[in-house]
Amino acid sequence: MAGGTPALRRALAFEYDLGFVRRRYNRLARIYPFFELAFLLPPGIRVRAVKKLELGPGARVLEVGCGTGRNLAYLVNAVGPQGVVYGVDASDGMLAKAKELCDRRGWQNVRLLQQDAGEMTLPEPVDGVLFSLSYAVMPASRQVLAQAWKQLRSGGRVVIMDAKLPPGGAGKLLRWPVTVFSRATVLGDPDRRPWNELKELGSAVEMEELSFRTYYICMGRKV
Ligand SMILES: C[S@@+](CC[C@H](N)C(=O)[O-])C[C@H]1O[C@@H](n2cnc3c(N)ncnc32)[C@H](O)[C@@H]1O
Repeated sequence: MAGGTPALRRALAFEYDLGFVRRRYNRLARIYPFFELAFLLPPGIRVRAVKKLELGPGARVLEVGCGTGRNLAYLVNAVGPQGVVYGVDASDGMLAKAKELCDRRGWQNVRLLQQDAGEMTLPEPVDGVLFSLSYAVMPASRQVLAQAWKQLRSGGRVVIMDAKLPPGGAGKLLRWPVTVFSRATVLGDPDRRPWNELKELGSAVEMEELSFRTYYICMGRKV
């Protein structure tokens, strides 16, 4: 990022390895829902993102970086009892929370897998892939997207929902506080542009922006 001393720029750079991400999220697992409030997540954004996957009964869907499972209810509901929901995450602490949720709700068709998303493999192709607040956190996100693309059947959709800086003066004003807060907490890099990376994979992209263009949901389809 531009500006600041070299030492400050290094401290705020979104350059870290997966071990660091795992340790950070293992620590965050118990208090994770708090961040939904702190980051002013637009109401209903999770439901909107899942709807854009256009899943039907019996579909197979993957959530990459599923965390504590805050989208699982919407995904389970979208695929019905004959469908399967795969949740991949690198953090055992976050997955333990997701497992507790599945046990509480009695979901039999959720498969939680502890894997590095850059190397994840599934037992079958899926109809949809969701990244929810995870793309901006992932080291080597471009490699992760390519790996997710491989798991997707032709005609399937990838939906990426995350936060970003708004364009213009507001973005310039917010850049430092957002970067400092995000780097110190959940590690989400507001400069990631997955819509461009989806285009590089040959996909047309649909983009929706919410909350004064500080959140987005982008969707690509594998042809
Ligand atoms: C901010 S949380 C999002 C959780 C959930 N998707 C949500 O919407 O609340 C980001 C998650 O991505 C996971 N993650 C980051 N990099 C990963 C990677 N390379 N492989 C698997 N999971 C990863 C973290 O462990 C964390 O659980």
